[in-house]
Amino acid sequence: MEFKLTEEQEMLQEMAHDFAEKSVAPRAADIDKNGEFPQDLFDTMTEMGFTGLCIPEEYGGSGGDDIGKAIVVEEIAKKCASTAGTLSVHMVCPSILLKFGSEEQKKKYLPKLANGCLGAFALTEPGAGSDAGSARTTAILDEATGEYVINGTKCFITGGARAQYIALIALTQPEKKIKGMSCIIVEKGTPGFTIGKVEDKMGLHGSETAELVFDNCRVPKENLIGEEGKGFNYAMIALDGARIGIAAQAVGIAEGALEASIEYAHQRIQFGKPIAALQGIQWYLADMATKTEAAKWLTYYAAYRKSAGLPHTKEAAMAKLNASENARYVTNLALQIHGGYGYMRDYPIERMYRDAKITEIYEGTSEIHKVVISRALLK
Ligand code: CAA
Repeated sequence: MEFKLTEEQEMLQEMAHDFAEKSVAPRAADIDKNGEFPQDLFDTMTEMGFTGLCIPEEYGGSGGDDIGKAIVVEEIAKKCASTAGTLSVHMVCPSILLKFGSEEQKKKYLPKLANGCLGAFALTEPGAGSDAGSARTTAILDEATGEYVINGTKCFITGGARAQYIALIALTQPEKKIKGMSCIIVEKGTPGFTIGKVEDKMGLHGSETAELVFDNCRVPKENLIGEEGKGFNYAMIALDGARIGIAAQAVGIAEGALEASIEYAHQRIQFGKPIAALQGIQWYLADMATKTEAAKWLTYYAAYRKSAGLPHTKEAAMAKLNASENARYVTNLALQIHGGYGYMRDYPIERMYRDAKITEIYEGTSEIHKVVISRALLK
């Protein structure tokens, strides 16, 4: 067993760290305040090859493995959870194409998704959140034209408002329920597909979360990914990978909050000395660091298993459950260390505290992860 990054992973970490420090950190507060999607940062991430991570070079990507991907998301999340979240969720659409798409689809979409086009994954509906299998959006094949006719509404879709390509889960055979679900690529601008409400959220203000409305939207039969009726399974497999990304995001948020707390503890003078000299603060920092280190290695372990082609459903769920609860715990203590100043927008802690919460909810709630983990234990 070796607890060591490869040279390539170390290089990626350094690049991502540098980008986060120099380009992301100075923008993070404004992105949050203005609810601004950081298009310029997405473009830079594209130039740096981050949006094409895990997409093989033959399809226009930058290659790499899931550990490298997690490290990049983590480094960016230390400074801006919104930018890291956008990157992490963008990668779900290409991951589905890569695993289940035809050669033709890979050649058509992957180079674009690696090089500037944002991807989205549309599973959730107003009446189908944790119970994803109860989704009602339909995509019925019109034999006469060879097109799927899509009707329904998806909600809470990260990047949905500006994504060029959407991996949509819809019922192609509604009577078969979960086993009648399929995965279909829908392109932005297809007639009958419109963007509904863009959500006003508690945190993650720079990551757009949108409703997608399909009203007799027609897409060619060729847009079906993989087999008809396998869409739910593909979605679950995609989520196994995606959850590692959110775990990495949560680790990064916790690390960012810990770094800020250490700096503040050295600077803040109370009772005639820096608060870092107070044992209560020291214990907080020790707990924050210990739990964050544990969350990081569980996340890397899940990423390692995925990269190695080993089963990772349980490990991804454990990593996300643990890292997201830790992000909430650490940002809460970080705010406590900062006291009144932490509650003010002048410091990044209140943003981190708000951003951390979503990691316990999106791409599966903590409760769903406990279902997934306990099912694996009891089978
Ligand atoms: N890998 C492969 N196949 C899987 C799987 C996995 N991890 N999990 C389930 N399946 C398969 C099952 O084997 C079964 O297939 P077969 O019948 O062929 O064996 C099929 O899927 C149905 O599985 P279940 O019976 O377990 O289904 P269920 O209805 O009990 O649901 C669940 C299981 C785990 C609760 C699932 O519904 C779930 O994960 N819910 C949470 C959904 C979620 O994470 N939503 C977030 C969406 S993304 C998002 O947040 C928006 C965004 O933009 C970020």
